[in-house]
Amino acid sequence: MKKAIAIVGSQWGDEGKGKIIDYLAGKADMVVRAQGGSNAGHTVVIGGKKYALHLVPSGVLNADTVNVIGNGVAFDPEGFFDEIATLEDGGVDTDRIYVSDRAHIVFPYHRRIDALAERARGADNLGTTLKGIGPCYMDKVERSGLRVCDMLDERSFREKLARRIDEKNDVIVKLYGGEPIGKASVIEAYAAYAKRLAPRVRDTVVMVHDAVASGKTVLFEGAQGSMLDLDLGTYPYVTSSHPVSGGFTVGAGLGAGTDVEILGITKAYTTRVGTGPMVTELTDETGDKIRERGHEYGTTTGRPRRCGWFDGVVVRHSARINGTTGLALMLLDVLDDFDEIKLCRAYKCGDETIEHFPAGLQILERSEPVYRTVKGWRKDLTGCRSWEDLPEEARDYIAAIEEMAGVPVKIVSVGPGREQTIARGEIL
Ligand code: GDP
Ligand code: IMO
Ligand code: MG
Repeated sequence: MKKAIAIVGSQWGDEGKGKIIDYLAGKADMVVRAQGGSNAGHTVVIGGKKYALHLVPSGVLNADTVNVIGNGVAFDPEGFFDEIATLEDGGVDTDRIYVSDRAHIVFPYHRRIDALAERARGADNLGTTLKGIGPCYMDKVERSGLRVCDMLDERSFREKLARRIDEKNDVIVKLYGGEPIGKASVIEAYAAYAKRLAPRVRDTVVMVHDAVASGKTVLFEGAQGSMLDLDLGTYPYVTSSHPVSGGFTVGAGLGAGTDVEILGITKAYTTRVGTGPMVTELTDETGDKIRERGHEYGTTTGRPRRCGWFDGVVVRHSARINGTTGLALMLLDVLDDFDEIKLCRAYKCGDETIEHFPAGLQILERSEPVYRTVKGWRKDLTGCRSWEDLPEEARDYIAAIEEMAGVPVKIVSVGPGREQTIARGEIL
């Protein structure tokens, strides 16, 4: 059994990563986030109670798990303390959450610039979550960002932040014609966050390294999905970080040679929230039926998710770029009520058959899905608790997915609850 497991989204996010992290966290010593920020929305359902996690790792709902927000995360203190307050109101112990001293900080000017840039893009907008993620990572790449370690020296932090606010207000007002950010109030608020945050700040690279080296069980919690990866996704309709497994090496300081099981969390169909190409999108009543049965509305923004059949070209690409060793097939129960189910095995673009996910948007826009159709099972799967409980048609569907992805399905999920999870063999 591997001691380190990376949980990555195989599609465009919202695959059910939160549920699987929570399911596995009972046996894990540590859960680590390494990229993204409050743009993530991970839903965990325990005993019918729903928790929506954004920045806080999904291991927090397990009493003994240590939760780490790694250096690669875009860390929004305001969102973080709001989330902590909600969790504590719900009786959740939040003491074991630590934040990297190297993580970049999201400020209100990042969120404002996110909104103004989206407005300026007009019809070509990216459909971001407006959480300031892109602008925060832009500062990081430009080498002008402020990090959590900068917060710890109050005097210099106040000075640096004052300068940044002046610079960003120039951009907000002169470039976008927006309302400037209030300087004094932001500095006071962030100085107060710094004091509250200080006891949680750690060199998380050392924490993660020590945990892995001493044989502890460590789960790396991916946010977003592989198709939203800045390099390997549907650029420019992507997020500004690396949701693929390689993101953990940079975003948590994990050595590239570390022995890690890579579990690709995969919906039994496809969804996408925000703009950009999606070859299997269904804009008809079948798409609506999937959306309603799967409650496909965003955890972070409440937007309706675009829905379509399973895209084998996407999941094959994803398995390759992540080095996926197993899939967790999620939301299979959503397909309980269909006579026929389709899986996209290739794209057709003009006369050409495409089997590997292409880079060019112009190719994707002209591509049509080539489907394989299988028989639906027309049974309620939500009560299934073992592989043997699954109807033959459902097992055939799973086999078709394994064949397309080239990776075995190790977990099948038939409902949002912890107990609605079927593991094929031991995962941890
Ligand atoms: P994440 O961002 O990958 O953690 O996924 P989200 O939480 O945004 O979206 C997944 C949604 O599906 C959540 O509302 C989960 O509670 C729900 N969910 C997870 N697994 C299953 C499942 O097997 N069946 C059903 N019906 N819902 C599920
Ligand atoms: P989880 O972790 C689904 C999408 C946005 C938009 C694009 C860029 O819950 O799976 P951003 O705010 O990141 O600059 O937006 O990425 N997006 C997500 N879609 N699930 C997510 O996270 C997402 N995080 C960002 O909708 O299309
Ligand atoms: Mg989500």
